[in-house]
Amino acid sequence: MDHLLIRPEQTGDYRAVEELHRRAFWNLYVPGCQEHYIAHVLRSHPDFVPELDLVCEVDGRVAASIMYTRSWLTDRQGTRVDILTFGPLAVDPALQRRGVGKRLMAESFRRAAGCPAVVIFGNPGNYVSSGFKSCRRYNVCLEGDVFPAAMLVRELTPGFFDGRRYRYADSPAFQIDPQAAEDFDRDFPPMERAFQPSQEEFFIHSNSVIRLPADAEPGSSE
Ligand SMILES: CC(C)(COP(=O)(O)OP(=O)(O)OC[C@H]1O[C@@H](n2cnc3c(N)ncnc32)[C@H](O)[C@@H]1OP(=O)(O)O)[C@@H](O)C(=O)NCCC(=O)NCCS
Repeated sequence: MDHLLIRPEQTGDYRAVEELHRRAFWNLYVPGCQEHYIAHVLRSHPDFVPELDLVCEVDGRVAASIMYTRSWLTDRQGTRVDILTFGPLAVDPALQRRGVGKRLMAESFRRAAGCPAVVIFGNPGNYVSSGFKSCRRYNVCLEGDVFPAAMLVRELTPGFFDGRRYRYADSPAFQIDPQAAEDFDRDFPPMERAFQPSQEEFFIHSNSVIRLPADAEPGSSE
């Protein structure tokens, strides 16, 4: 990789970015994928954060993309805090596992300074080296006091989390119409939908929750 540049996404990048998400996500978590459609509709949603819509160019070509939306934490008193979530995030398959994703995340965190935290759902192996921790450590849960194994939290403002319980909610921007996603995909060159073992890994991660004994200290093994 001779030259790597991280910059805001421009209108002229839209199609290349959608193709990139399609290439990176195709058959990875389910047969086919919807992430290129999600990228397409997010940009015009009111919860989208344009200033954190970044691409990474490698040798003059768009090789990675990250998009953010607003999300929220609510404590037990009902106080709501604005935070961020990212996704889709993708690196061109030909350039994965060479540090591009990590550099793009790091730059986005720098630009997001002032925000308390980022919460995402993802394979922990991709994110713990970028400072993400289990939601359990920060006492951030979903409705019903559920702590998903794939729900990861990155503090951006050190010390923001003070032990109080927060409930996380993401933007309705992610509630997409599957039929519209299917229709949108027809505008791209055909690709075969198939099973891949990574789909089973995704099933395991996305259906797992963290449960600790009542007397366990979530932060004790930090
Ligand atoms: C996930 C993704 C964005 C990561 O970007 P990347 O450029 O490939 O990853 P990086 O090289 O920056 O590595 C990030 C971390 O992943 C882990 N990692 C990297 N290579 C790895 C490998 N071969 N095996 C296991 N883990 C690996 C490491 O923890 C690494 O950090 P470290 O080098 O400090 O230890 C990229 O692989 C991708 O687009 N994947 C397909 C789409 C996707 O899954 N997006 C995320 C949805 S949640």
